[in-house]
Amino acid sequence: MRTPGGILAVLYSVAPAAAKPGVDQQIAQLESSNSKLLQYPTQFTQSIMPKAIHSHNDYWRDVPLLTALSFGVASVEADVSLINGTLYVGHENQALTPDRTLDSLYIQPLLQILHNQNPQTEFTAGSTSHNGVFDVDGGQTLQLVIEIKTDGVATLPSVLAALEPLRSAGYLTTFANGTLTRSAVTVVGTGNSPLEQIKELSPRDFFFDAPLSQLTDPSLNTTWDATLAPLASTDYEAVVGWNGFGTISDEQKGNITKFVGDAHERGIAARFWNTPAWPVSARENIWRALLENGVDWLNADDLAAASSF
Ligand SMILES: *[C@@H]1O[C@H](CO)[C@@H](O)[C@H](O)[C@H]1NC(C)=O
Ligand SMILES: *[C@@H]1O[C@H](CO)[C@@H](O)[C@H](O)[C@H]1NC(C)=O
Ligand SMILES: *[C@@H]1O[C@H](CO)[C@@H](O)[C@H](O)[C@H]1NC(C)=O
Ligand SMILES: *[C@@H]1O[C@H](CO)[C@@H](O)[C@H](O)[C@H]1NC(C)=O
Repeated sequence: MRTPGGILAVLYSVAPAAAKPGVDQQIAQLESSNSKLLQYPTQFTQSIMPKAIHSHNDYWRDVPLLTALSFGVASVEADVSLINGTLYVGHENQALTPDRTLDSLYIQPLLQILHNQNPQTEFTAGSTSHNGVFDVDGGQTLQLVIEIKTDGVATLPSVLAALEPLRSAGYLTTFANGTLTRSAVTVVGTGNSPLEQIKELSPRDFFFDAPLSQLTDPSLNTTWDATLAPLASTDYEAVVGWNGFGTISDEQKGNITKFVGDAHERGIAARFWNTPAWPVSARENIWRALLENGVDWLNADDLAAASSF
């Protein structure tokens, strides 16, 4: 009788033994071992893909900022009111508390996260650029949209002062000496943010949310570009209005492409707010129409739905 060769020879010759650990067992062993092999400094957002989603009224989420980051949301919006010298975060005065401030909900958490994403080690010595919050794409900036609810001219100095910890650490996108330098956080003012005062800022690290449907309107006396306004937004209901059922009209679609084109010609990202949230099928038809026609940011309240869209 012939002796089998190759793998069969192995099978025939090896005495029965206990099964070796499979890959799943090996993974489980390592995961429960606290092994240094599985640890690195910037793990906070490990494997979270950043997405062009804007978290509308982000402080409504279970945990402001962090819930958005957990979904890879790359733009968050905080409404702020200046009261007795403090910037409180909330949609209306009835929702404010002494504990929920711009500093406590956004500035300090961001500072902590960014310090962790930018460790000082023997591997980073001499590096001058800063990682953003997302581990998989350190170059992705987080857009922090600040909607000023109180008087814009009176509130702006407090907002600029509140940003100082991020500014002095080098984490803010800045326009200075004719150059726009992107960094981990790009702050954009909306609501009552005062255009003329923002134009005067030099260096500028607080930008303006431009009126998307008026970028070509000469009466605004403004040359719009990304050094002043990296973002432009407008009210979907006012200039598109399609309810998401049936087919979008040529005029509605034409407005989307016109305004998006005006923004892109100037290097500005486009966003429509006040898009219908329900029914879900209509909401998704509208999201699809916006993305297909070049809109850069999906405005969303339901982050789970938008991130899996
Ligand atoms: C603001 O200051 C006034 C005067 O001191 C005080 O009556 C009021 O309660 C303060 N409001 C808040 C929200 O701190
Ligand atoms: C802008 O130029 C001035 C003068 O040359 C310099 O002191 C300053 O550091 C520059 N600012 C930035 C942000 O590069
Ligand atoms: C634009 O400039 C004109 C002429 O100086 C002025 O009358 C008008 O109010 C300005 N418009 C805005 C929006 O500032
Ligand atoms: C398109 O936008 C213009 C403003 O530029 C607006 O007057 C018009 O009503 C919009 N069309 C639709 C269908 O909403």
